[in-house]
Amino acid sequence: MKVSKKVAGVEYAIRDVVSAAKKLENQGRKIEYLNIGDPVQYGFQPPENVKNAFIKAIQSGENYYAPSEGLPELKEAIARKEHNKGLSVTGEDILVTNGISEGLDMVISSIVEEGDEVLLPGPYYPPYASYVKLHGGKPVEFAVDMNKSTPDIDDIRSKITPNTVAICLISPNNPTGVVFNEKALKQLVDIANENNLYIICDEIYDQIVFDEKFVGIGKVAGDSPVILLNGFSKVHLMTGWRIGYIGFNNSSKLEQIREILPKLARVRICSNLPVQHAAIESLNGPQDYIIDYVSELKKRRDLVVKRLNSISGLSCSNPKGAFYAFPKIEHNRYDSDKEYVMELLNKKGVLTVHGSGFGTQYGSGHFRLVFLPNLQTLDSVLDKIEEFSS
Ligand SMILES: Cc1ncc(COP(=O)(O)O)c(C=O)c1O
Repeated sequence: MKVSKKVAGVEYAIRDVVSAAKKLENQGRKIEYLNIGDPVQYGFQPPENVKNAFIKAIQSGENYYAPSEGLPELKEAIARKEHNKGLSVTGEDILVTNGISEGLDMVISSIVEEGDEVLLPGPYYPPYASYVKLHGGKPVEFAVDMNKSTPDIDDIRSKITPNTVAICLISPNNPTGVVFNEKALKQLVDIANENNLYIICDEIYDQIVFDEKFVGIGKVAGDSPVILLNGFSKVHLMTGWRIGYIGFNNSSKLEQIREILPKLARVRICSNLPVQHAAIESLNGPQDYIIDYVSELKKRRDLVVKRLNSISGLSCSNPKGAFYAFPKIEHNRYDSDKEYVMELLNKKGVLTVHGSGFGTQYGSGHFRLVFLPNLQTLDSVLDKIEEFSS
């Protein structure tokens, strides 16, 4: 029976490559999975106090439908975090979602109509393009210098049309690890304001930065129409628990969307209640585990980038945040980055993701690997990539 045309544009390269790996695994091959950005699958865990808050919530009967917009205590804790980063928000400006993924769907569906264009940083996290397409819009990639971590402002200007409705920023970025500095963020906010665009900013990796202090969009937002997306999956190690949020900057331009979004939140009833209690504990409890986690990741980043750059035929920019390396395949003996990734899987049992899955314009000719496994595993995986490339 037929399915709708609009779902045809939905793709998620990160998970799409898994079926090929599973096939090999079923034949008895050992596969190293370097495709999914889930720290919890590589041995990191939420702290005990956070796990206990989840269990306690269940045991004390917090198992019912929660308020659609989220628990007031959680919204307050989130607002405090975002306010400290510079965004002008109170608890009233927060809407709790089942992960950024759900928040993104809600935001895009509220903004995008048939033929509307949305600017995305090239390369980008794939659901941004999928949701834009699903809602009838057109994703338009803009150039970002991976080495300098700077957006190409002239390129953005040249790509704005009367149909452009929003610009999405992801900082730190998945898949490149690019982190925008204050100057870059200010330029992006200015260009959005000049053209009356929504600014959708994803800061899910905000505390996973290695070299410089993180600057959030809040620092430069003023009264611009910034819609912040954030969540607990990466920094708070709660990937499988599915919790995130939307934050609305204090801007008169957001009045209409603020009316609509709570209605969408009501349609899906609420986000997971016991997890909301765990999220409160995660924000209010000790934060020192983040320091250990990030310093461990930094060691892994340093190893991976050094080794990738020593392999002839590959070059890799230094990711300033998140936990992905995005090497460029300088000399590809295969027809495409996807074929390279599939051959690396078939020949060496290493699963990565083809760069074109993160946008064909700027992602092609690269591949993405996570540097979440321990140093020993990473070293042996890099041996395999080296053998494959030589
Ligand atoms: C930039 C970015 N945003 C959002 C997500 C998904 O977030 P969540 O788990 O909150 O749905 C990811 C996951 O990889 C991501 O990289």
